[in-house]
Amino acid sequence: MKIGIIGSGYVGLVTGTCLAHLGHTVTCVDQDPTKIRTLKKGKIPFYEPGLMEMVLECVAAKRLSFTTEISKIVNRCEVLFICVNTPPMPDGGADLTFVEKVARQIATHLRGYCLVVEKSTVPVETGEWVRQTIKRNVRKGVQFDVASNPEFLREGSAIRDFLQPDRIVIGVSSDRAEKLFRKLYSPLKAPMIVTDIKSAELIKHAANSFLATKISFTNAVSRICDAVGADIEKVALGMGLDPRIGKQFLKAGVGFGGSCFPKDVSAFLHISEKLGTRFELLADVLKINDAQAKYFVEGIKNSMKTLRGKTIGVLGLAFKPDTDDMRSAPSIPIIQMLQKEGARILAYDPQAAAKAAETLRDVSYVSAPYAVAQGAHAIVVLTEWSEFLNLDWARLKKSMKDRFFFDGRNMFQPEEMKTLGFRYSSIGRPSA
Ligand code: UDX
Repeated sequence: MKIGIIGSGYVGLVTGTCLAHLGHTVTCVDQDPTKIRTLKKGKIPFYEPGLMEMVLECVAAKRLSFTTEISKIVNRCEVLFICVNTPPMPDGGADLTFVEKVARQIATHLRGYCLVVEKSTVPVETGEWVRQTIKRNVRKGVQFDVASNPEFLREGSAIRDFLQPDRIVIGVSSDRAEKLFRKLYSPLKAPMIVTDIKSAELIKHAANSFLATKISFTNAVSRICDAVGADIEKVALGMGLDPRIGKQFLKAGVGFGGSCFPKDVSAFLHISEKLGTRFELLADVLKINDAQAKYFVEGIKNSMKTLRGKTIGVLGLAFKPDTDDMRSAPSIPIIQMLQKEGARILAYDPQAAAKAAETLRDVSYVSAPYAVAQGAHAIVVLTEWSEFLNLDWARLKKSMKDRFFFDGRNMFQPEEMKTLGFRYSSIGRPSA
């Protein structure tokens, strides 16, 4: 099938590349000429394991191409995916300016039937609004369908998530649209949930908000564990083995970040308010998440008494491992709070240092994990990169001035860290 992807950011590029990998002929559009030039050179503007190789393979097979001109693809494609960003506005709502612009552009150029799909995460009822926008601006008599097909891609495992999905959700309003989706996704083996458009839009917001709720719930319980000396890892295990709860997303830490959870939970809360049915629980989910970073810093201050003149070595900056994404990374408020208390920061991240430097000033970024320990009074782990598991801690400890170790991701075992000589503490677990 001939597919057009409008918006070649993270979601658009992964979607387009994977569809080309499945055998479709895909053109990815973006209004940013620099981004398109970079992609044409076979370079990816962000880090996602396996994506570059797949882009190169699909370009070589002539199934994937890039352009800045939307007019070139609208009439050549059976399906057009809208993958532009929907940034948060100050009140938490999603800014749909780019979605509207693209809907108008599609309408202007459309001459025959096309299925227009919202892939970006959008508020419920956006599909209907997109349909009306196209209808108002398209030539008389031109047929089209609008559908919702939310993505569930996790950064770091986006290709696997696309090619081996738990489910494919499509929100459609015609048999023709459903048939096109079935043909498009026929190479994938996954249950297909076929709904109306509004339900599909809600599935995305509800799923992300529920996952964020699990994390905030666990973090809230972790503080109770700290208060009584219990172990959140054991509590989460005991809860998670109940299949009605499930083991995943019960990991305590410094809070959730990234481009989706903070934005989507705020947007869902905002939608509920606008609909006159405020989803109060979500306000608490966000509150707990913000407080978690502060709670972690308070713990550091209490242990070290004062941070003035202290050097802190930070391991991990990205909002999670296997990505260079710094959007809403908990490392940002945490490092800023530590700096405000007078600490000097040395930081290492295998991928995210360059992006971190755009936001986090006055940090000495080092290119090896051992360098963060140089003259440091404390080590702070903020992202659970697997390479940290294999560090030579005895070597690291030797270059430290003091032996504080604050594990914001519960990566290490308290007993082992104590044996190594660290003054180790983590989240919701008794220090050994
Ligand atoms: C998320 C959703 O998982 C995905 O389905 C959606 O389409 C996009 O948003 P992503 O933002 O890539 O994906 O990251 P995810 O792996 O879900 O983690 C989000 C955040 O939650 C990270 O900061 C992570 O560290 C944190 N997290 C996750 C926890 O703190 N504890 C957990 O148990 C799980």
